[in-house]
Order: sequence, then C-alpha cells, then structure tokens
Amino acid sequence: MDTRTPEELLAGMTWSQKLAQLQILWRRDQDDALALARGGIGALFWPQSAERTNALQRAAIEESAHGIPLLIGLDVLHGQFTIFPTPLAQAASFDRSVPAADARISAAEARSGGVNWTFAPMVDVARDPRWGRVVEGFGEDSFLAAALGAAKVAAYQGDDLTAADVLAACVKHFVAYGAAEAGRDYNTTDVSRRRLRETYLEPFRSAVAAGAASVMAAFNSLNGTPMHAHRRLLTDVLKAEYGFEGVVVGDADGVAQLVRHGVARDEADAVRQSLAAGLDIVMGGPELAGDDVPLIERGAVDAARIDDAVLRVLRLKKALGLFQNPFADAAAERTAPTPQTLRTAQDAAERCVVLLKNQGAVLPLPAGTQRILLTGPYATSTDHLGAWVQHFGAQAGTLADALRAELPEATWTVASGAEFLGPSDADIREAVLLAAKSDLVLIAVGEPSSISGEAGSRADIRLPGDQEHLIQAIADTGVPFVVILITGRPLVVEAWIDRAPAALLAWHLGTRGPEAIARVVAGAVNPGGRVPMTFPRAAGQIPIHHDAENTGRPARTGGSMAVHRWDVGLQGPNNLDDYYTSKFLDLERGPRFAFGHGLSFTTFCLEAASLSTSEIPCTELRAGARVVVSASVRNVGERDGDDVVLVYLSDPVASLAQPVQRLRGFRRVAVAAGEAASVSFELGVDDLGFWDDEDRFVLEPGELVLTVTDGTDAERLALNVTP
Ligand code: GLC
Repeated sequence: MDTRTPEELLAGMTWSQKLAQLQILWRRDQDDALALARGGIGALFWPQSAERTNALQRAAIEESAHGIPLLIGLDVLHGQFTIFPTPLAQAASFDRSVPAADARISAAEARSGGVNWTFAPMVDVARDPRWGRVVEGFGEDSFLAAALGAAKVAAYQGDDLTAADVLAACVKHFVAYGAAEAGRDYNTTDVSRRRLRETYLEPFRSAVAAGAASVMAAFNSLNGTPMHAHRRLLTDVLKAEYGFEGVVVGDADGVAQLVRHGVARDEADAVRQSLAAGLDIVMGGPELAGDDVPLIERGAVDAARIDDAVLRVLRLKKALGLFQNPFADAAAERTAPTPQTLRTAQDAAERCVVLLKNQGAVLPLPAGTQRILLTGPYATSTDHLGAWVQHFGAQAGTLADALRAELPEATWTVASGAEFLGPSDADIREAVLLAAKSDLVLIAVGEPSSISGEAGSRADIRLPGDQEHLIQAIADTGVPFVVILITGRPLVVEAWIDRAPAALLAWHLGTRGPEAIARVVAGAVNPGGRVPMTFPRAAGQIPIHHDAENTGRPARTGGSMAVHRWDVGLQGPNNLDDYYTSKFLDLERGPRFAFGHGLSFTTFCLEAASLSTSEIPCTELRAGARVVVSASVRNVGERDGDDVVLVYLSDPVASLAQPVQRLRGFRRVAVAAGEAASVSFELGVDDLGFWDDEDRFVLEPGELVLTVTDGTDAERLALNVTP
C-alpha cells in the first residue's frame, strides 16, 4: 500500500521523471514494455493479459525510481470479449440503457485483465456519412450524443473507480473531429464559434459534467489551430470553463503530427506546444525521457503547467486505487463472454434494429413452411462485430444459422451470392434461379467492417461491389423480398430502395447480431429503433441533417421532379417560386430516411400533448424554472411495441437564424397493444436558449414552438417566453 499523496510524489520527482509520467506508449514486445515501465513511463497500452499487465505493474512499482504504478489503456469502444452493437447502432436505440449496458459489461471484462483506462466513449457529432468514423459515435445530433455519451461515461466508471469492474473513461475526440471537410478522415475543420458550441462542444460538456476521468484531443486542426495545441479550447474552455480536473490525453502521434500540420519545427517543439496548451499525456511519439534524457529541457514549458499535468495523472491513478492495488486478479480474469453477457448483448442489439420500410406488412415473416431464399454476402458472413473491436472479441455466427434456428419450419435455401467487393454475375444468376423457386427472398447486404471506422472514409457510399445488381436482379423476378442492411454508416440506397417492399437497418450488431436480426425478421422482437443519422439520397447531398437552418429560400420537401427537368433552361421553370429555392436540380428533395425515422410492427398514436405553462418569463427560466412537456402514446395495433417520442424546439424569430428544429428530449417507451403510456420532459434555460457567435449563451423573449412527435404523429405547442 503506497500512502504517498500525489503532492508528496511530485515533490520527489526529477524533471525527466515528471516528463516520463506524461506519456503513453505501445510496444508489442513485452520486454520493451517492461523496460519502459522500469524507466518510469506513466502509461502503457494493455499487453493483452492480466499476467503480462501485472508484470508491467510490478516493474513500475519495484524497479522504477519512484515506484508509481501504470495507467493501462485500451480502446474498449463497444465490447472487450462480448461485443455489443457499434455506437452508431446503439444511438439508433434512442435508449440510454443500451450504451450503459455495453459499458458495464465491457468494463468488467476489460478491468479483469488489467485494463484500467478505456479510450471511449467517442462523442464526435457527425453529419457526413462519408467519414468512416461515424460508426464510433452517436450520430448527427448533439443532444442525443450528449445524453448517450454521459450515460456511457457513468456506466464505464461506476460509483468508485477503485472497483474491480470499472474503467476510467476517456471521452473523445476533442473537438469537432466529425466536421472534417468532405468527410475525409483527419481533414481540416473550420467551424464557427456558435456551431462549435451548439453542435460539437456540448457532448463534451455533458460528459465532463457526468464525471469523465479523461478527454482525448482530436487529430484535426480547427480554424487553423490543431487541437493538440489548442490552448483556448483545451485550457480556457475544457479545464477552466467546464471545470475539468481530469487528464487530457493526445491521440496516437497527434502531438508529433503538429510538425506535419505546419505549426511545430520538430517533435520537441510539438511536445512543448501541446503541454503548454493543456495536454497532459502524450500518446506515442518519441520517448519524452528515454534513458532519463528529457526531450524538452526544464523551462521549455512553465514548470507549474508540468506539475499540474503530473498531479492530474497521479490523482487519476489514486482514484483508480492503483497505489493500494494495481494488480489484476489473474484467477478472476475474464477472457470470454458468458451466457449472461451474450444475453445482454443480444437484448441491446435487438433494440438497435430500425424498420425502414414494410409495405404490405411483409415483415415479420409468418411461422410456417414457406420456401425462403437467403442471399447476399451477409447471408453467411460472420462480420457482425463492426469497427474498433479488438481481435480477441468473440466471433459472431451467421445470419443463415440464426434464421434457420428462429424459423425452423421454413424451407431454407442459402446462396450467399455477391461478395462484398468482387464480381458476381454467376452468383447473381444462381440467386435469380433460386428466387424463382421461392416464396420470399431475404437479401442480406451491406458494408464490411473493414471499410468502416478510422481512415475508412468513402467517396461513394452506396453498397460496395455488385450488391445493388443482386437486389435489382431479385426485384426483377417479382418474388417478394426483404433487404437486410448491415452497415457501419448510412448508405445511399436510391438505386433499389423504392423496389424493396421491406428493409431493415441492422448495422453491425456485435457478437449476437445475427440472432437479434433473426428475431426481428421472425417477429419475436418488434423493432423500435430510429435513424440516428440522416440517410442522404446521394453523396452530393451531404451534409444533410435534421437540424439545418431554413435558409431564405427553402425548397418544399417532396417538391416535384418536374422543376428539375433537364430542359428547364430551355423552357424556363414551370414554377418560379419553386425553382429559385435551395435544392438540387437532379435529386428528389429531402433525405431518403430522416433522423428519427423508424417503423414498427404495430401502430402508435400520440395523444394529449401539453405544456405545464404556455407563458414563462426569461427571469424565471434563468432562475432555474422548468417547463414540463407531457404527452401520451397509445398503441392502437395488435402487437406490443416500443415507440420513441421526440421533443423538438423551434425558435421562429431570433437574433440569429436558428435550426428549423433542435432535439430537446427523447424517450423510448414500451406500450402494450391497446394500452397507453405517458411521457414527460422537463426543459430549462439550457434547453431553450442558444449560443451566439461571440461565445455567449442567450435566452431571448419571444414565441417558441415545441413539437412532440413519434415520427408519425406530431403535436405543436406554443410557449411564450416573456422578458
Ligand atoms: C487512434 C484513434 C483513437 C484511439 C487511439 C488509440 O488513432 O484516433 O480514437 O483511441 O488511436 O488507439
């Protein structure tokens, strides 16, 4: 038991020893990692077992000059051994309990092996599905990302970081990484101060308020300043304004990359700038104090800043209980899922499935002896884990096996057909012949996880390979079919979606993904997920998101294509009012699937939406008064199901143009057939005001409109905010 306080430890450390505490490195070779531990490094990546981790901790404690234990970090983003749906899929659940369930189980599995720090949750708001990393976050909406991110932080960390089944969270990537131009990973971001506050900073403020132990800086430059050297945001906003007392860690080699950004002369200059700006731990890069030789000389950075960084690191280690016991109990190490963790993962996966279309109630499939063809690469693929899972996560099964188990009386034919990327004319011909002998075809297509995630940006976000041709060929047979879309991001589905009677959005759902999909297809589960990130009609439509501004010339959604006729230049538009509006000549207006879209196997209707008051003074709101929005959801169908009720705020007249709607509340609610359920939301000044472009939060008198909707019904409520 080491009873030294962080301050006492700091007082006894040399300049080099302090610098060494401010770095995390990875080494595949355990001997190299042991040498770093003996040299007094502050943190290391997990060496993939409790035994090897304990050896590193022992080396740090018994052989380093100061005996300080190690932070042991790892990206546990949506599972360690039990893999949960990807975070974007989790967002589709519109249910805080889903990311929380993931975090609790992932933390227990990871901590048992000696991990004590996870680089998660990722809360980057993303509005460009070309960006591969949309899979790691909670979609396009800041309010949803803030809520789910905070829930995940709380679940990773529990009530006491010394517990054997929790992890220090690291909310990332600070900030506006998702605003990368063209959706090209690591690309430049240029964001107004107002947008930065309203959209990108809010999930971080929320995660810090939820107690996040650490924050990771983003790779991108923001308005010309790389985030790894962004003093105003790292220190003045995150640490001073938000009161963040934890650790800011750089991303992999993010400090060294300041040289390539063109703001640092060399790596030493980069380290100096980052630490001075408010970064506390450098990830990767050259050793800060290899062989006790400091990379930057004493005085290169204000000594008080270095001491502050070291104290933040030591306090985190203290909070994790590493000075009392840094060792994992190897006898209790968990290296595989259990039936209970798999059950929880499957429950989570079932809540993430979105029913996009269901014409003629093709779904759920009736039990019985019908002849079903299952085709498409995801018929037999096991690639359901999604991006950012460690290679030791439990493998998923196949959709073919799961469907056969769920619908044993059907006569199944499986022809996996088109490979994800390869030519497949013969496969398609075979599938067509088999379809002709079937009563129904399930076409399981999508995006392999290998083209999702970090550095996985795609310029063309349609189904890769010949999958679209497979769908068209099956559609040409006239046999009823259902498309099951398994993907890491929203895709452009225009080429085939209108021909598909039914379509399920099934993401990458993790270890029990196939089983979850099968239960929805068979009707054992009534899907309740909603689209958390807009599906554009074309990549050229991006960015497109639900909370855009109206513009001075808004185009009517659903406007006729007539005005887009190619000859419009010759004959003149047939409707001037419609022509000179914000639209594309060559594309239907509006998204293919909007944020919040999702169907059910039953029918809901919204009732009795009301406000606790129709008028309230700004002064009362600023003093903490809340307005309560209430509504009732009735299930008028014959099956139990979940509905998702959303509350949007509109501010028709303000000193700055406002988004046409801003999400201000969401609630997923289970409603039995024939029953009703009440929901209510409390809104305060933080929900009703907005940020201006001078970094000021303002609440203005005027009429606000609160819309309560479940995606089908909607009720608008007026709230008059008086001076
Ligand atoms: C990666 C990612 C970051 C991750 C880190 C450590 O490059 O950007 O999200 O946590 O490296 O693996």
